[in-house]
Amino acid sequence: MNILLLGSGGRENALAWKIKQSSKVDNLYVAPGNAGTHLIAQNIDLSSTDFPAIKDFVLNNDIHMVVVGPEEPLVRGIYDFFINDETIKHIPVIGPSKEGAQLEGSKDFAKQFMARHSIPTAKYQSFTLDQLNDAYAFLEQLEAPYVLKADGLAAGKGVLIINDLDEAKKELKEMLSGMFGDASKTVVIEEFLSGIECSVFVLTDGESYKILPVAKDYKRIGEGDTGLNTGGMGAVSPVSFADDVFMQKVEQRIVIPTVEGLKKDKIDYKGFIFLGLIEVKGEPMVIEYNVRMGDPETEVVMPRIKSDFVDLLEGVATKTLHEKDLEIDSRYAVTVMLVSGGYPGDYEKGKEITGLQSVTDSILFHAGTKLSDDKVLTNGGRVIAISSYGNTKEEALNLSFKNAEKITYDKKYYRKDIGFDLK
Ligand code: AMP
Ligand code: GLY
Repeated sequence: MNILLLGSGGRENALAWKIKQSSKVDNLYVAPGNAGTHLIAQNIDLSSTDFPAIKDFVLNNDIHMVVVGPEEPLVRGIYDFFINDETIKHIPVIGPSKEGAQLEGSKDFAKQFMARHSIPTAKYQSFTLDQLNDAYAFLEQLEAPYVLKADGLAAGKGVLIINDLDEAKKELKEMLSGMFGDASKTVVIEEFLSGIECSVFVLTDGESYKILPVAKDYKRIGEGDTGLNTGGMGAVSPVSFADDVFMQKVEQRIVIPTVEGLKKDKIDYKGFIFLGLIEVKGEPMVIEYNVRMGDPETEVVMPRIKSDFVDLLEGVATKTLHEKDLEIDSRYAVTVMLVSGGYPGDYEKGKEITGLQSVTDSILFHAGTKLSDDKVLTNGGRVIAISSYGNTKEEALNLSFKNAEKITYDKKYYRKDIGFDLK
């Protein structure tokens, strides 16, 4: 079969790598892709949100399945676009309907969903600018730190955690007045939860589900989880505190009620559910839903899946997921992200990357790279993820760190403490 994968980051390179291993795949296209996906698939110069252009491509290239990497096409309704068009409705899109994508596209929608289905999460209320005084009163009832979340998509920047009440009120007013445009016209104010976080990924066909390997990502730029938030500096799988007892609780209290809740609410959902979880005194609670795989978690989750991934995706498309096997590699997988100097602030692009050929015993997933003649150039803040296996976390990390030294470009930076807080 022929598959079109949408997206251009490390996540998509890891998905492409796994999809390409399936004996069921004839041609894999990635739109728009990067220099890493170029090595294993055919990059197509299309934006993942240009639905009419995607339709033309799908029809002209005999595509049998569309796999959606990032959230934006999902929140904009690519699933519904296909379903509502006679000429392409038979081609499955792996991803939720526009309504299902609201689990990520609207924090208020996600909180209401969790409340309706008794899924454990932080206490909250949502406010708009005309309710400013009520919002202040709600903040006054909470204890510091204060968690303010823009309702809509804000490129990962829409969550503020503030220690001082007056500062929180000031920021709240600015958010409601358009700090993140329309995305913050509604703000969710939440109780602060204290604990350690992990990412659980669920694949569902709307009826049954499979729980993919659990991972932990490292979001801050600095070692010891300090400094600014990034798109992710590394990840580890499995996660020591997410043991069988914890995962049982996750399945019973969160995964099953989520899948059943979607069914009860008649929300069409065939794709990935990403549960951003926090462990509070041994109990899992939901920090957020996303409707896609995580980045850089995918760069450790895909390597740990032994089963044919396209077979699983076919199970999603045809609602036969319960018939499929999911076999997991028992080894550790870790990834270390090489980034551009200055990221997540200003950084330069277009630096030549050398040493890629000398990497051994790791898998390279390109995040922000591009080809220029025969050269590979940096093309983003996050540049390349180096994923490795090991019988222990340390063994895997040592391979990634060894290879991180072999790759060179001007102002390369990476964190040397990925996994530091796990046993
Ligand atoms: P989100 O975009 O909802 O994942 O929020 C980004 C980050 O903010 C999360 O990964 C958490 O580290 C933190 N965060 C969000 N909500 C809370 C909360 N209620 N309590 C503590 N930390 C939070
Ligand atoms: N690693 C977190 C995310 O993909 O949103």
